[in-house]
Amino acid sequence: MFRSHTCGELRPEHVGQTITLSGWVHRRRDHGELIFIDLRDRYGITQVVFDSATAQAHEVAEGARSEFVLQVTGRVRPRPPEAVNPNLATGAIEVVALEAQVLNPARTTPIYIAQEGGEDEAVRLKYRYLDLRRERMQRNLILRHRVIKFMRDFLDDEGFLEIETPILIKSTPEGARDYLVPSRVHPGKFYALPQSPQQLKQLLMVAGYDRYFQIARCFRDEDLRADRQPEFTQLDMELSFVDQEDVLQLIERLFTELCRSVVPHKHVPTPFRRLTYAEAMERYGSDKPDLRYDLELVSLGDLLAGTPFQVFKGALESGGQIKGLRAPGCGGYSRKQIDELTDLARGGGARGLAWAALPADGGEIRSSFAKNLGAGELQAIVERMGGQPGDLLLLVADKPSVVATTLDKLRREFGARLGLADPATLHFSWIVDFPLVDWNADEGRWDAVHHPFTAPQDADMALMDSDPGKVRAKAYDLVLNGYEVGGGSIRIHRRDVQQKLFDLLGISPETAMAQFGHMLEAFEYGAPPHGGIAPGIDRIVMILADESTIREVMAFPKTQQAIDLMTAAPSSVDERQLKDLHIALR
Ligand code: AMO
Repeated sequence: MFRSHTCGELRPEHVGQTITLSGWVHRRRDHGELIFIDLRDRYGITQVVFDSATAQAHEVAEGARSEFVLQVTGRVRPRPPEAVNPNLATGAIEVVALEAQVLNPARTTPIYIAQEGGEDEAVRLKYRYLDLRRERMQRNLILRHRVIKFMRDFLDDEGFLEIETPILIKSTPEGARDYLVPSRVHPGKFYALPQSPQQLKQLLMVAGYDRYFQIARCFRDEDLRADRQPEFTQLDMELSFVDQEDVLQLIERLFTELCRSVVPHKHVPTPFRRLTYAEAMERYGSDKPDLRYDLELVSLGDLLAGTPFQVFKGALESGGQIKGLRAPGCGGYSRKQIDELTDLARGGGARGLAWAALPADGGEIRSSFAKNLGAGELQAIVERMGGQPGDLLLLVADKPSVVATTLDKLRREFGARLGLADPATLHFSWIVDFPLVDWNADEGRWDAVHHPFTAPQDADMALMDSDPGKVRAKAYDLVLNGYEVGGGSIRIHRRDVQQKLFDLLGISPETAMAQFGHMLEAFEYGAPPHGGIAPGIDRIVMILADESTIREVMAFPKTQQAIDLMTAAPSSVDERQLKDLHIALR
């Protein structure tokens, strides 16, 4: 028997018992006659005392070093009152060692387990199995487990079936690039790893499994960011005989109850706020605004329609916008601070940033552009933006997409700087009424905003021919604290509507058959009305865990360069493997 208890288990009621623990040496304090070892496993830490009177055990403790694996048998006793540690679950007791053995020694570890942080993330990722011993990573992975378990239990109660779909599938060019897997038995042919089980879950609806879910691994070869990994996990779901409202209600209940269960100290405002895509873009410049704080963008185009200022005038004349953001209490910013903001704005694609600093004491307004304005224009801007003494007003004039991206960036920056976002709030919201298609100016064609199976809204069907850009889709995103944490839609289940959309997207009948033939054929055998959603589990756990990258909630993530530093993947393969796969490297 390696252990009778875990290192997180012993309490005052165990006093007097003889127990056995196995675990890692977390900390060791050597006072000569007495050696204290904090023994650790994933359940907690227990203080073990080695007294020289018990020579064998004391000798083991003398030779033990950090991260040695020990087995200790000893007696549980209460700690003296002054040594009680209220911050430790086992802090009221200690174990007096009677017998000990080293199960395995350890080299000096490249990262210090007992103390978090400090070292480069690359070191943590290379020695991930050591990093995972730390409390932070344990806490995150345990939370992740709880989240997934809650989802499974909740959906099981709701009559859903968890069904696995294949990882080797047909390549179907979607949003991102596919990861390809060469076939050995079919020279020159490739499987693709799924970007999501989208098509398969729709086929499960045709098959009659009307409430499906899967904890689904997805693969996308795209540029990585803090909230993007090449492989990630979705709670993939699909339902038949539902409309958008059914999906939204179900998901709202799932996440409200999930948060209550796994992060009860957090506040979840309900019902989830709903914004149309157009409204979100207008008011926040983003389809994933952090709604824990207001800080809305203000449109100034109409006010400045007749302005002599060339920058503003030019922007408006070429179909652009002028919008502003009020940074409360930042009117005292120095030129250097404002230059930093301008750099940030340039990062959003803006050519520059117009600013006006309103002095707190009612003196002269400092501004980058006031001298260029017509009479009364500055005053009108201040009034429209609700500028108060001591505020900094920031204006961007450019193409709508640039204005949105730039002011969204600045809004997030001030949200963080001014501490506007309550860390204890989980603010879920729905963005609805996304456009169905989006004009791709580079390629000169319409692209599906979500994917080509997303249904247009019934009321907008007539616009499919006349004004496709105005057609709204039955598509919805779930947003949490400024992150997109889920996306879904009601799907097209009628062949004629699907054909219309393919026509619009410029997908010829031949291409449609070659790429989606299995879907189109299946839809002719009685496809029920259906729809679904896929919340991204990594992002949700990241936010629940108060982390800022999804790498912190994944056991073995890749770097931003898509490298696994621990195993050094991707790697070269030998010539014979390539030959088997009929592959020659260029
Ligand atoms: P979508 O592409 O919007 O929809 O993805 C759904 C959710 O998955 C998460 N996500 C990611 N998480 C980490 N790393 C990534 N690279 C990554 N990409 C996406 C996000 C996102 O909101 N099949 C559709 C869903 C549907 O229509 O039912 C889909 O995949 O949280």
